[in-house]
Amino acid sequence: MLILQRDYSKLVELMKKFKEELAKPFIGREEEALVLTLAIMTAEHAILVGEPGTAKSAMARRAADLVKARFFKYLLTRYTDPDELFGPLDIAALREGKYVRISVNRLPEAEIVFLDEIFNASSAILNTLLTLMNERVIYDGYREVQVPLWTLISASNTVPEEPEYRALYDRFLLRHFVKPVSEDKWGELLDAAWRIEKEGYRAVEPLLSMRELREIYDVIFNVDLSSIKDKLVKLYAAIEDQGVHISDRRKGKALKVIAAHSLLHGRSKAVEEDLVVLKYVAPQTAEEAEKTYIVLLEEVSLKERVLEEIREVETNIREVKALLVRRQDIDPRLIEYLRGLERAREKLKKILNTSVEDSVKRRALEVLVELEETIESVKRRLVL
Ligand SMILES: Nc1ncnc2c1ncn2[C@@H]1O[C@H](COP(=O)(O)OP(=O)(O)OP(=O)(O)O)[C@@H](O)[C@H]1O
Ligand SMILES: [Mg+2]
Repeated sequence: MLILQRDYSKLVELMKKFKEELAKPFIGREEEALVLTLAIMTAEHAILVGEPGTAKSAMARRAADLVKARFFKYLLTRYTDPDELFGPLDIAALREGKYVRISVNRLPEAEIVFLDEIFNASSAILNTLLTLMNERVIYDGYREVQVPLWTLISASNTVPEEPEYRALYDRFLLRHFVKPVSEDKWGELLDAAWRIEKEGYRAVEPLLSMRELREIYDVIFNVDLSSIKDKLVKLYAAIEDQGVHISDRRKGKALKVIAAHSLLHGRSKAVEEDLVVLKYVAPQTAEEAEKTYIVLLEEVSLKERVLEEIREVETNIREVKALLVRRQDIDPRLIEYLRGLERAREKLKKILNTSVEDSVKRRALEVLVELEETIESVKRRLVL
């Protein structure tokens, strides 16, 4: 525990940096960077699903490049042969009746793996991948060989329909549905894409070593989850009520992701906000992801929602201020506005008292100060 405390903040900073570096060349890919960072922290597998050309492959590749590890990258087609991934058969050994593969520099030796378009895997590849991802073993002839796989990242255009790929899909604890960049960022997208076309992707220096990753993994199990467990059970029920079924394996493993999210935000005790990661663990399809997010918005006090509430209060303040400038007489609407502002004051005070996020508190306080001034101005106008 002592060692953990000493290295704790340094490791957290490193993971934050990893997330930032990952998102850096891209526009609007912060959430994708979060998902891949959580996968790396928890030694779980992650998949990005979305339409062509949304930088899924580029993000996955960059995530692998940012870790100093033995890695293996491959684009799967329906014609990919098992040898290409797992290594060719050792002919010399075969002559002696031994069935072994030469797996040097191939998937069986890799710690970080990026398999693009994984649902193109043939059935021979599929079966090996299933045990490789879950049990971290591979069968070489009759021998069971432990593999050092830490995280496998994949990207795909669609969620597989076929039952044989379902098991593979379930192996990805983190699944994220990538949306094209929103219209307000198209200008930035042009600049970023131009830069990437012109210069190519600059090779990145790895930021993280496998040793550091193992350390962070240990710290995850020291995160205090006691205050969110009841809420989590309730959330599972609420999400399942929406027809989104979460397998038992995922229900349990979600805790690791919650703990990692907590850590990434510098907390050693998980808070409700950390339950937002269920958005990446619970749903199987983009539609289910929407449903899950709606449940989360309703049930969990999320930072985004609170910030949105603060923004609304701010907009109302601006309107009242504008009215005060526009009309110098006593506008009858002011009485109503005053009541609204006073209600908003209670709301902001509640946010100030309950929020655990410093950034939210600061914002709430800022707006509260402006709100108090505005309330005073209205009262003066109304000669109260
Ligand atoms: N959000 C973005 N920010 C910056 N560049 C982007 C973004 N989205 C796409 N691009 C540009 O488009 C290219 C295509 O991305 P990439 O090949 O990774 O897409 P993909 O999602 O893997 O597509 P496919 O599903 O067809 O494999 C990127 O290399 C980049 O140049
Ligand atoms: Mg791709």
